[in-house]
Amino acid sequence: MPSNSLPEQGRRPAWRRVVPGFLALAMTAAAPMVAPASSEAAPAHVDNPFAGATSYVNPDYAENVQSSIDQTQDADLQAKMQQVKSYPTAVWLDRIAAIEGGEDNGGRLSLREHLDEALAQQGSGPITASFVIYDLPGRDCSALASNGELPLTQQGLQRYKNDYIDAITDVMDDPKYNDIRITTVIEPDGLPNLVTNLDDPECAEAKSSGIQVDAVQYALNQLHDISNVYTYMDFAHSGWLGWNNNLTQTVQLYTDVVQETDAGFQSVDGFATNTSNYTPTEEPFLTDPNARVGGNQVRSGDFYKWNPNFDESDFAASLHDQLVSNGWPSSVGTIIDTGRNGWGGSERPTQESSSTDLNTYIEESKVDRRAHRGLWCNSSGAGIGVPPQAAPSGHPNANIDAFVWTKPPGESDGSSEEIPNDEGKSPDPMCDPDYVAPEAGNNPTGALPNSPLAGHWFHEQFKMLVQNAHPEISAASREGTN
Ligand code: GLC
Repeated sequence: MPSNSLPEQGRRPAWRRVVPGFLALAMTAAAPMVAPASSEAAPAHVDNPFAGATSYVNPDYAENVQSSIDQTQDADLQAKMQQVKSYPTAVWLDRIAAIEGGEDNGGRLSLREHLDEALAQQGSGPITASFVIYDLPGRDCSALASNGELPLTQQGLQRYKNDYIDAITDVMDDPKYNDIRITTVIEPDGLPNLVTNLDDPECAEAKSSGIQVDAVQYALNQLHDISNVYTYMDFAHSGWLGWNNNLTQTVQLYTDVVQETDAGFQSVDGFATNTSNYTPTEEPFLTDPNARVGGNQVRSGDFYKWNPNFDESDFAASLHDQLVSNGWPSSVGTIIDTGRNGWGGSERPTQESSSTDLNTYIEESKVDRRAHRGLWCNSSGAGIGVPPQAAPSGHPNANIDAFVWTKPPGESDGSSEEIPNDEGKSPDPMCDPDYVAPEAGNNPTGALPNSPLAGHWFHEQFKMLVQNAHPEISAASREGTN
């Protein structure tokens, strides 16, 4: 990792808020140098929080996996599920009630309990614990499955700030948790929707009102203010923002948004791609988008539609390059969600196709088995991907801080049925296997049938993901991970 060469302007150490005015005093020659109490000392903010660290394993997730083990007869599959139980996944703070946990949030742990548990799991070295900040007013404006609890109004914005972000940072700021590297993924799909989905009236309103930008800036300011908290802004995935015009426009929006935060570029540690998506990290048999088959460039095929970024590894490199051109420090990292992008199993191609018909060639070569890259709901055929890993090698120019499992494999993307709930979630046709989606090239969605609400445990999906894992899950696959 290149080290961060810019001064840490604007970063206030945690103790600064405990003893207001301390810094100003300490900087005058006559003032006595009073060291802050060590338990409150601001921990060092490192370039890559995942490097050299272990990661928090969420007991709530392990419980869900156990429920699937209990329903499984096959001993081999059970053993694989048992292995998955030991992997770190992110905790989604997907509504205000998730901060306090308990009965109002499906019996799950509170934020404080997660952090206490992370301390209990910590060995002698550093530990990371990952949280998703996901409660934007007017959330999921271009879809229905993950609509949220806060309306796109000034009141919704106030609640986001006071009852959601402040409640989170109050806990994270407790000096007791100083030694945990708390990593956050900020608002999946939030800002990307404001670039490419403006033909949707809800997204257009989200943009023109300025509410979502205000919310994201507030989140960054508050989270970055705590020196052991790390911020990764969601940056969708290659099948969404990989086209050059989408990439440059979205980087421009992020640049404008972040430059207006208190600490500017320093408020962001990196970008998160593929969160909850299925895009492969590598397309091993499609390595050159400009190669020609039957006289046409591979990128011109129906599946890629001229998008030159076929996978997340290439996308992370293109993103990094674009960020640096826009003035971002080269230390800015990427994390890639590999929880469900494995695409193993019997349908996985084992070699490059020899067809001279471009679309046949792509279809027979690509490991992503979806009919269209815009399909996102409980995709059938998907499998768990590479286990969480810090600073993976072999991805030149991408500056990848880690492979992470942000979307816990086995939690549903959404339902197509009306299921009463108090989370704001609605039925989404993209989760209906019988729906032919104009927004995805008139292909059937490929969604698994009978899915529960977004975020709820989906045993059938979990089973499929474990069966189709690539690399295959075995006790040995744990080696070499963080
Ligand atoms: C979805 C849901 C959210 C859930 C998350 C992780 O986006 O809307 O409630 O926590 O996925 O499964």
